[in-house]
Amino acid sequence: MTTGGNIAARIKWVSKLFTHGRTIASLTPSSRWLSQAMCRDVDQSRPQTILELGAGMGPVTSTIHKMMHPKSTLISLEIDPELHTLVSQRCPDVDVVHGSAEDLEDILDARGIESVDCFISCLPTPSLPKEVNQHVLDVWSRRCVSGVFTQITQIPWWYQSMYGKAFHDVSFQLVGRNILPAGVYHCRNLRADYKSAERQYGK
Ligand SMILES: C[S@@+](CC[C@H](N)C(=O)[O-])C[C@H]1O[C@@H](n2cnc3c(N)ncnc32)[C@H](O)[C@@H]1O
Repeated sequence: MTTGGNIAARIKWVSKLFTHGRTIASLTPSSRWLSQAMCRDVDQSRPQTILELGAGMGPVTSTIHKMMHPKSTLISLEIDPELHTLVSQRCPDVDVVHGSAEDLEDILDARGIESVDCFISCLPTPSLPKEVNQHVLDVWSRRCVSGVFTQITQIPWWYQSMYGKAFHDVSFQLVGRNILPAGVYHCRNLRADYKSAERQYGK
């Protein structure tokens, strides 16, 4: 992006933040460093099926695309129509899907995708309805063979215990080089009772 394009993109992001604060949930698009941290499990040496939820303006999408094996498949989901169009233009080789995470099962089925190697969630998980988070975890538990649930956060450590409600193992990676320090949760081993009322999280 040019500097002018960058400024225009930031203005658009801030206007989205004002109109859809809870679904956007971050002050700016992720920095290069945060995007790279989200790609910890993207493997350049072998083809993978990679899923990104919540593409926004595409900083993580384009980083995955740069880092992945040329024969990997990347599906990126975005609920906002304008952002979807923007990322589709920015990453023309990526299957950018306009839709909601609550329809994830159908979206993967429609593409014949049975398993996902990298499951990368940029969703504003704490502000989503419980049912949407539950659906995402259900899909992850059935389809993610690597067993890592990668989740972005804009508030370091704050939600660690929330993710600990659903997963036995949660590790946090701090990323200081972002407009506000942010980070990534790497979650494994879903708890057997993750569907119980005490284990669910979201609005
Ligand atoms: C925190 S932003 C992250 C954007 C981008 N990946 C980044 O790192 O800069 C969250 C994104 O998730 C999208 N989103 C929110 N709810 C969604 C849903 N139910 N399904 C798909 N995308 C959603 C928002 O529109 C927003 O673009």
